[in-house]
Amino acid sequence: MRTPGIAAAAAVVLVTALTALARDPFAEECRTKEYPPSGPTYKGKIPEYVINLDLPPKERWFKLAHEKRVEIKRLIQTMKGMLLAFSHSKKMVAALESKMNWLGSTLPYPFGGEIEGIALAADLPFGDIVMFNIFYEIFTVCTSIITEDTNGKLYHVRNLDFGLFLGWDIKNSSWVVTQELKPLMASLDFQRNNKTVFKSASITGYIGVVSGIAPGLFTLTMNERFSLDGGYIGLFEWILGQRRGWWMSFLTRSVLENSTSYEDAKNKLAYTDLLAPAYYILAGNKSGEGCVITRSRTAVLDIWNLDIKGGIWYLVETNYDRWKDPFVLDNRRDPAMKCLNQTKQENISLPALYNVLSTKPILNKLTVATTLMEVSEGHIESYLRDCLNPCSPW
Ligand SMILES: *[C@@H]1O[C@H](CO)[C@@H](O)[C@H](O)[C@H]1NC(C)=O
Ligand SMILES: *[C@@H]1O[C@H](CO)[C@@H](O)[C@H](O)[C@H]1NC(C)=O
Ligand SMILES: *[C@@H]1O[C@H](CO)[C@@H](O)[C@H](O)[C@H]1NC(C)=O
Ligand SMILES: *[C@@H]1O[C@H](CO)[C@@H](O)[C@H](O)[C@H]1NC(C)=O
Ligand SMILES: *[C@@H]1O[C@H](CO)[C@@H](O)[C@H](O)[C@H]1NC(C)=O
Ligand SMILES: *[C@@H]1O[C@H](CO)[C@@H](O)[C@H](O)[C@H]1NC(C)=O
Repeated sequence: MRTPGIAAAAAVVLVTALTALARDPFAEECRTKEYPPSGPTYKGKIPEYVINLDLPPKERWFKLAHEKRVEIKRLIQTMKGMLLAFSHSKKMVAALESKMNWLGSTLPYPFGGEIEGIALAADLPFGDIVMFNIFYEIFTVCTSIITEDTNGKLYHVRNLDFGLFLGWDIKNSSWVVTQELKPLMASLDFQRNNKTVFKSASITGYIGVVSGIAPGLFTLTMNERFSLDGGYIGLFEWILGQRRGWWMSFLTRSVLENSTSYEDAKNKLAYTDLLAPAYYILAGNKSGEGCVITRSRTAVLDIWNLDIKGGIWYLVETNYDRWKDPFVLDNRRDPAMKCLNQTKQENISLPALYNVLSTKPILNKLTVATTLMEVSEGHIESYLRDCLNPCSPW
């Protein structure tokens, strides 16, 4: 019975070490006066493009994908290089690529056609763009915040963190993919009849939506939910021909494009079957309309609503269930709550929220961009970010 003893001792040492680390060496006091964005954490503005939904899916992304073809290609090369390093097998990567072609052909309207158009415009194989869309869906970790001010105005903001586990560049002390994503960020204005239907902040080449606003109606963000109850079984089911579930960020896209109210959006996000678990963070245009929907593949596990009378004037979602503690090495939730508590409801505004999202480790080495949204005026603004050393890797 020696081994369990040693294992237990090792576990104690490990937990002690983790707890010591949990007093995050990269944490800092809540930032103030960061807005308007400037200085070392601000890496630049994000270009704007119109996506015309009246065009056939194949033609919608042409201008954008063509202009960014060099950057898209570089990123896909990096991703393939990592797959190769990981699998040590050119054959496996080639097999995966051919599977991607086929997988793309099973995607519903308008998604398959849009990916096809992007591949043509960027002069890349169809399967590569499919793979890029799947990668993006899997490796996104984020912080999203909804708040209501004392006048009942709703704000919805987020840091987009991407690139976890995808290669650390020791020389630059940065994540390779995170760096390569920055030139691909775009602010998109999806229009029908020359009028805005919704706006989003997105990575070029990716047709799902992880942050968006339907002006006057609702704002929506999606965060990754790592979970054992389902994981990516849905993806395998899809491959095997059982295609009931929705791709998580195709559902957000569809809701932003076609839902006409907060309640309708909430119902669709809560009750549509998915391929993998997710958090949907949704805010409406009226006092009290804000919620975090925790999803498994087939069920809604929890809907956490704003409750102004009950003192809940903000909701913070990172990548953990609200009823569980965050992973000790990745606690962005408490720092965000601490800064919101310090700001107080009477002083909440988009600049104040930009300050919160500029505070380490909420701002970290994975942060690609910060997006701020205010629904009643249909306002969205996004900024590229950088986190200089010392800075938490996630
Ligand atoms: C890494 O650092 C080098 C030199 O400091 C710079 O030229 C290069 O652009 C950086 N790469 C990335 C991806 O930021
Ligand atoms: C949109 O505007 C352009 C130019 O302003 C015009 O040529 C086109 O007909 C308009 N399309 C629709 C669907 O109204
Ligand atoms: C959104 O809220 C604003 C301010 O309360 C209001 O003026 C506007 O009419 C609302 N928009 C819609 C579509 O309900
Ligand atoms: C939105 O609805 C229209 C009309 O029914 C449909 O053609 C379109 O594909 C839908 N968009 C998405 C993203 O599901
Ligand atoms: C923030 O304030 C809320 C409500 O007063 C409290 O429950 C929570 O513990 C505080 N969190 C932090 C991190 O300060
Ligand atoms: C809140 O705003 C008021 C007026 O804008 C200012 O006087 C006060 O110092 C602010 N409070 C905090 C905690 O920042």
